Amino acid sequence: MIIDTDPGVDDAFAISLAALSEEVDLLGVTTVFGNVPLEATTLNARRLLALCGRDDVPVAAGAARPLVHAPLRRASHVHGADGLSGRSAALPEPGRALEPGGAVSLLVSLLEAAGEPVTIAPIGPLTNIALLLAAHPEVREKIARIVIMGGGLAGGNSTGAAEFNIWSDPEAARRVLVEEPVPCVLVPMDLTYRCAVDTAWLAKLAASGPIGAALEALTPDYSSHYRKALGWDGIVLHDAVAVAEAIRPGILKTETYPVEVECSLGPARGATLVDRRRQGLRAEAEGDIAQGHIEVAVDTDLDGLRSFVLDRLAR
Ligand code: BDR
Ligand code: CA
Repeated sequence: MIIDTDPGVDDAFAISLAALSEEVDLLGVTTVFGNVPLEATTLNARRLLALCGRDDVPVAAGAARPLVHAPLRRASHVHGADGLSGRSAALPEPGRALEPGGAVSLLVSLLEAAGEPVTIAPIGPLTNIALLLAAHPEVREKIARIVIMGGGLAGGNSTGAAEFNIWSDPEAARRVLVEEPVPCVLVPMDLTYRCAVDTAWLAKLAASGPIGAALEALTPDYSSHYRKALGWDGIVLHDAVAVAEAIRPGILKTETYPVEVECSLGPARGATLVDRRRQGLRAEAEGDIAQGHIEVAVDTDLDGLRSFVLDRLAR
């Protein structure tokens, strides 16, 4: 498995979840702009791997900007100026140098060297993955699934229409979800919000050991965002929900639908249009909506998912 990420507090939980799960071989981590600028997301990813004792995992930096338009609105109001609630510097320093060739180069070499198809889990803007598929279509056959945290069935969190990861680079998202024949699972915010964890879950994490305590210490800015925005005492682990599915296929219930991504510059830019009409109605309207058939995560055993994540992070 390879994670493409923009840490980000929930990315921190997701990276740690994969790094601490023995049944997956975490081959590499690539970074992208997103919650905070690329330099910060890259340093955060390397520090998180050091926290988990995983300096064996190579990290390469990828895109600093979206493919076409560059709104560059960050989410530092959600994750803190450094992406980790101002606590990035409290993590251990990376024990391994950054890979020199960049994200696409690392992705290609890991995929080519892999003995079996690899799952890629993009949990930030899809720029690196779009660049990979455009420049190296031959690696598609080495990809088992692309499990993406992104999109919304009923609106967004960046705008009324668009979820942050898709909104940050809609052209890249369209390339991956609509134009490239690669099996994709989309884990939208509708489901990730339902998997939110409360302060009791966070307290158990903090008490579980040094890694759990360090992860819980990254949450103050993030949880105060949810308190202000939604009146909740707890946090949403968006990216960890997608990575759980990448680790344990089937932990999320999926349904297959055509998906389109709105790339106009209008108010719906970055919206994911998931066509949930009955099959017959879709057939009648053929040509109405894009061809892509994407597995969309729609449900899970919420408490089972929360326990799965807590159990791994407590290791
Ligand atoms: C997504 O946006 C980012 O802020 C999070 O890290 C997550 O990947 C949720 O919409
Ligand atoms: Ca993210």
